[in-house]
Amino acid sequence: MTATNLLKKQHQEVKSLFRRVQKTEDTEARHDLRKEIINNLTVHAKIEEEIFYPAVRGIGTEKAKDLVLEAYEEHHADEEEKDMFPLAQKLGEAQLEAVGERMAARVEAFTGQAAEPAGRGRRR
Ligand SMILES: [Fe+2]
Repeated sequence: MTATNLLKKQHQEVKSLFRRVQKTEDTEARHDLRKEIINNLTVHAKIEEEIFYPAVRGIGTEKAKDLVLEAYEEHHADEEEKDMFPLAQKLGEAQLEAVGERMAARVEAFTGQAAEPAGRGRRR
């Protein structure tokens, strides 16, 4: 199986799961379908980011590098800031802070550098 066929197949599977979520009224079925979507997308994003994107980036042209960057950006910034961040406010200040601390610790573990919040300059 080629990389692109594998990813296409996963896109189709997730799309069909989304359609099933929208169609079903059954709370438990919706719950199970959502869980399946999250699991599928987690694996999908991982193999794209760990294997596919670096392979495409390795083509080495400016276009390849730009498209890989765009894919990262599309996966992340737009949708998250538009829809998910406002929703995340429902977690409440204390939990947002606690989740943020855990994430900052992971950033530090990955990069060896302290995470800086947006909008603040470097404090040094
Ligand atoms: Fe994808």
